Amino acid sequence: MVEKKGLKDAYALKSTKDSIDLYKVWATTYDTDFALKNSYRSPSEVTNYYCKYSNISDVPILDVGAGTGLVGECLKKKCPREIDAIDISSEMLDLARSKNVYSKLIQANLKKKLQISKSYYGAVVSAGTFTHGHIGPAVFDELLRILKPGGLFIVTIHTGVFQAQGFEKKLFDLQKFITTPIFHEVNAYGNNIDKKHANDKVIVTVFRKNLL
Ligand SMILES: C[S@@+](CC[C@H](N)C(=O)[O-])C[C@H]1O[C@@H](n2cnc3c(N)ncnc32)[C@H](O)[C@@H]1O
Repeated sequence: MVEKKGLKDAYALKSTKDSIDLYKVWATTYDTDFALKNSYRSPSEVTNYYCKYSNISDVPILDVGAGTGLVGECLKKKCPREIDAIDISSEMLDLARSKNVYSKLIQANLKKKLQISKSYYGAVVSAGTFTHGHIGPAVFDELLRILKPGGLFIVTIHTGVFQAQGFEKKLFDLQKFITTPIFHEVNAYGNNIDKKHANDKVIVTVFRKNLL
């Protein structure tokens, strides 16, 4: 019998290898057993805020930790734009590819320097990737490098890691390079999630890279 994967496993990840191993197994059931069943809201929240805050020059978009492509799917429905996906898991990216919403799919470790030119993207978006067991705030430096001056940055950060893993401090340290962040705290899941995670919240964090 195949063991079912879920939030408990995701929040307990300790290393990049753990992440690769988990998403390899979880990829095929992620959309149905996790996202749909729990009314996972982060991709639609990020999409709604992108549509609210963006202008026509905020393209192309990079979806960071794109996974199975839920942000790309939401965006296509709500306000279609050119969007690329980046993720370390080839199995998650295979699912994202099958949805035909991304122009390019990039398999890469976000914790390393990316093979992407500076100032290439008009926007960086991300849902569910800055959370327990996943990616910390150090990655923001590289994401800002590949973002155009004036480009839009919209990511969810789980409230449980916002201070504890240094996101708040990172945003403070970056203040010379970015506009004052706007924070929208929202529920990560709908009513069906188990009691333990019923109050999980993410902070949709919105800012722009300063013009030079
Ligand atoms: C919780 S999933 C979120 C997927 C999608 N954004 C969503 O909201 O459904 C986190 C994703 O981050 C990716 N990830 C974790 N560590 C990574 C790393 N070091 N580099 C690139 N992607 C990573 C995983 O492979 C996974 O697809």
